[in-house]
Amino acid sequence: MRINKYIAHAGVASRRNAEELIKNGHVTINGTVVDNLATQVKASDRVEIDGSPIYNEEKVYYLLNKPRGVISSVSDEKGRKTVVDLLPEVRERIYPVGRLDWDTSGLLILTNDGDFTDKMIHPRNEIDKVYLARVKGIATKENLRPLTRGVMVDGRKTKPAHYHIVKVDKEKNRSVVELTIHEGRNHQVKKMFEEVGLLVDKLSRIRFGTLDLAGLRPGEFRKLSKKEISQLHNAAINNK
Ligand code: URA
Repeated sequence: MRINKYIAHAGVASRRNAEELIKNGHVTINGTVVDNLATQVKASDRVEIDGSPIYNEEKVYYLLNKPRGVISSVSDEKGRKTVVDLLPEVRERIYPVGRLDWDTSGLLILTNDGDFTDKMIHPRNEIDKVYLARVKGIATKENLRPLTRGVMVDGRKTKPAHYHIVKVDKEKNRSVVELTIHEGRNHQVKKMFEEVGLLVDKLSRIRFGTLDLAGLRPGEFRKLSKKEISQLHNAAINNK
């Protein structure tokens, strides 16, 4: 197996991150630095990243209802609670598929499968990520329409999105809008609403491809079934 694939399979990094690690000289096979992405790994080889050995584990997939106030990473240098801390009995080295902000709640998949992660987060595969946003102000078709064509976020136009106005509360001057996107850029949903003049004050992800949060309260998690995993694979439009 090629070295970049081997690292992704081991769940240590996505395939793209694995390539960076290799190119930057962090990876050794049997003690020798490899910087060629095409290098083949044999079952008997000892592969290390910055001196720590990596092993190919069984692939596992979990669905978490992330509460607010938890960060979407594997560890935190300030010792804050991470999403991985919420699944203490999982022994494999899982990490989140994409990120939700500290103050965003909702659906998050965690896995040690780098190829699966790449497939789920790449915008060309058009996996729906559905968010429920409470925004300050009155949402109308007119002010939301630009979201369906794309708005400028961090100097780049977003891909067309779908919206559905769930509720408008004129008295409290706020609205609830469902937004479906295929990308996962930093703070993307908040920034998209900001572009159309609406500030998000509460955000939750309610759907990811074929998955929703039925039966899971904030902080709860469960294993995905084989069927659910294959449905997610099938939801990718560039299915390979
Ligand atoms: N968009 C955001 O702004 N925040 C998230 O957590 C997810 C998507």
